[in-house]
Amino acid sequence: MKKTGCFYGVGVGPGDPELITLKAHRILSQVPVIFIPKKNDESESMAYSVISGYIKGREVTPLVLPMSYDREKLMVHWEKAVDTVWQRLEKGDDCAFINLGDPLLYGSFIYIWEILRELHPGIKVEVISGISSVNAAAASALVPLAINNDKVAVISGKCDDGFIRETLQKFDTVVFMKINRMFSQVRGILSELDMSKHCYYVKQATTGTEEVITDLGRLDNENLDYFSLLIVRR
Ligand SMILES: C[S@@+](CC[C@H](N)C(=O)[O-])C[C@H]1O[C@@H](n2cnc3c(N)ncnc32)[C@H](O)[C@@H]1O
Repeated sequence: MKKTGCFYGVGVGPGDPELITLKAHRILSQVPVIFIPKKNDESESMAYSVISGYIKGREVTPLVLPMSYDREKLMVHWEKAVDTVWQRLEKGDDCAFINLGDPLLYGSFIYIWEILRELHPGIKVEVISGISSVNAAAASALVPLAINNDKVAVISGKCDDGFIRETLQKFDTVVFMKINRMFSQVRGILSELDMSKHCYYVKQATTGTEEVITDLGRLDNENLDYFSLLIVRR
């Protein structure tokens, strides 16, 4: 029986092509096919832009994985993507699926892997960790994420006010990913808790368009970038 290929989840780091690991680079140079998640057919992939200079002439296959909270709609796309990947793995080809930052931190790799593993138990999987946007943004803002016994929380997506308030009070550092979707809510709670002076908004960390903003007032009524996060450090 033919051996199936290995499914590599490859973290390509936060945006700067120099922040890709040597191992990720090696795997991407070796595998016969690289899968790239995209929001839709027309959208650009930031993960692809990180590696494009390194993979000239290599086979690249986009997989459309829309952003949505509608699980049924998502499932249709995830299953289609899994089918595309499986067709290559089944032939014995090793496959790489790239993710911005680290694949296991809110990475779309996780969904594909979970479905693949359910449909094809025993499949060989390897994850190449990448520098996450959390680490990269802290470096850009020159703010420690933790020292000594500090407690760190990472939040992403919708939360109610009570949860946000409690997290800000209990943790020494709180990182809000996908802050574009919840900025005005978080901003209101930070003002109420008098914590607005301890904030670092980081947009497109490590890229040529990076911005670090500490005066949150500058962001009020702005349309914030998807590739941005907020670090609150007490
Ligand atoms: C689906 S999560 C992916 C996280 C990624 N796997 C990681 O390890 O960083 C997408 C969120 O990550 C954050 N993000 C990703 N890249 C970023 C960057 N270069 N600068 C700032 N935030 C970024 C943003 O908050 C964005 O909404």
